[in-house]
Amino acid sequence: MGFATALTCTQLYPHFPHLLLLLLLLNISDLHVNAQLSSSFYETSCPTVVTVVEGVVRQAIEAEARMAASLLRLHFHDCFVHGCDGPVLLDDTATVTGEKTALPNNNSIRGFEVVDEIKSAVEAVCNATVSCADILALAANASATLVGGPSWTVLLGRRDATNPASIAEVTAALPNPNSDMPTIIGRFAAVGLNVEDTVALSGGHTIGQARCVSFSARLYNFSGTGAPDPAIDADFLASLQSTCPQGGDANVLRPLDATTADTFDVGYYSNLQSNRGLLQSDQELTSDANTAPLTAPQGEIRLNCHVVNSA
Ligand code: HEM
Repeated sequence: MGFATALTCTQLYPHFPHLLLLLLLLNISDLHVNAQLSSSFYETSCPTVVTVVEGVVRQAIEAEARMAASLLRLHFHDCFVHGCDGPVLLDDTATVTGEKTALPNNNSIRGFEVVDEIKSAVEAVCNATVSCADILALAANASATLVGGPSWTVLLGRRDATNPASIAEVTAALPNPNSDMPTIIGRFAAVGLNVEDTVALSGGHTIGQARCVSFSARLYNFSGTGAPDPAIDADFLASLQSTCPQGGDANVLRPLDATTADTFDVGYYSNLQSNRGLLQSDQELTSDANTAPLTAPQGEIRLNCHVVNSA
């Protein structure tokens, strides 16, 4: 399914992207799990866990609205690499190298102190019972819900990994903000998700922020052209260039959803329609580049179909 179809559904059902996200987050979580997971896993061993997690997340979001986005993203980055098993939280030690310093995570994923607070609160009521991976899953659900998004049935009972993925594996698994559509689709396909899933899950960018370094290439040197991405709305481009001047501070932030940065809504998709997607990978969702045919003056009329004419 292409993006146009997703928009049609959005118009028909205002909560459609929410529902998709709900289902797909479950799917992601399901990719690497077995039948031992269940929404009632802690029913007897830690019956208050959901409430405890939600309480800490609520306080954290009240203190800083962006934290909802940061916690949602932590769960995504946990799940996309070898399933949702928590190594994204591990610090490097002499014997274990965690995933935090991999390019998509380094100086980027955040919220660890809130996860620590949740873990302490959970340990206080149920010692050594709830995994960090399950805490991330519950925190992501609470975060989305608390900023107006969907709630989904969180399957629980995950154990935390003792063997994180290598840095190279993390970099190879997580999508890149400068990727084109075929590459993005490839990354999602590698974890069993299709194009429709990719469009829906990208709706996670309805909240949160990105650093200039994540999108400045498209402001000044799109795909090595030395010029801005022609797909960006002109006013939006000027505004982004003013926030992120060439050679400026790479860590300055812009909201991923330019209209409603802290609310889980369909604003992200409307922005894409008006060419105001922040990341190239966002705006690529509206692109037909992967299916568009070459037309003159591009390409050639091949004389022998097995070889290009210049061979
Ligand atoms: C095409 C796939 C994706 C790419 C290329 C991508 C890339 C990025 C990048 C580059 C940032 C900003 C990081 C920074 O500048 O430090 C970001 C932020 C974020 N991403 Fe994604 N992402 C993708 C999919 C997803 C998915 C599937 C979700 C969740 C469902 C998600 C949730 C978020 C959130 C919530 C933020 C903001 C985090 C914050 O403000 O702390 N992303 N993403």
